[in-house]
Amino acid sequence: MNNSAENTNVSLKKYLKRLLLNDHVVLHNFEDCCGSPEEKIMVKTSPAGEEEKEMVSGGSDLDSLEKAVTGCRRCELYRTRNNTVFGAGNRAASIVFIGEAPGRDEDLQGIPFVGRAGKLLDKILEAIGFSRDDIYIANILKCRPPGNRDPKEEEVEACERYLAAQLKSIDPVLICALGRVAAQNLLKTKASLKVLRESEHYYNGIRVVATYHPAALLRNPAYKRPTWEDMKLLRRLHDEALETR
Ligand code: URA
Repeated sequence: MNNSAENTNVSLKKYLKRLLLNDHVVLHNFEDCCGSPEEKIMVKTSPAGEEEKEMVSGGSDLDSLEKAVTGCRRCELYRTRNNTVFGAGNRAASIVFIGEAPGRDEDLQGIPFVGRAGKLLDKILEAIGFSRDDIYIANILKCRPPGNRDPKEEEVEACERYLAAQLKSIDPVLICALGRVAAQNLLKTKASLKVLRESEHYYNGIRVVATYHPAALLRNPAYKRPTWEDMKLLRRLHDEALETR
């Protein structure tokens, strides 16, 4: 098979897989019957960042990456964490939600968005017809900053290769950045969340919608209405992007 035919084949497989997953049809043996894409990604994983590990996407890459994150000492946060929080959900998701960093509950359980903000996020997802099984969710940082302080620049820098590799492997059609810290760090900007919500953004060619963090909604219910507007936009962009992919 030539390169272009192979690429078409991989895209078609991904598209079909997404259609099936979005229709809530679970096809456990998809990889068995159709094989998996063989795109390779390079990720630096050692504490000092010197050693390069090669991972094959489509199945084992996120497992190897998760192992690397579990042992990561690239910044000082490893000293205070109970668990790393890699990410969770559908590894073939068409949409990825990105939060800031694990909080107390997430640090204790090793799973993103399991606390109060996570419960609210579940309701928001349900309101636009998604469940946790449809989406993938991860954070800018994989370790909890003590006392839930804002991530430091060097922590974001040390961690960003992991999220970049996750996004490359999952290859969603849409990203939702939850809150200012997630949006600013993902998009490498200092613009306010207000400005970011009102403008169009892309991360490596993938459309990004910025909205309020669910924890902000818990503190300030006035953010609920604009968040609902963002969610309707998100759903529309998601469905349009799937149709044209
Ligand atoms: N807030 C986040 O940004 N991420 C989590 O995983 C939990 C709370």
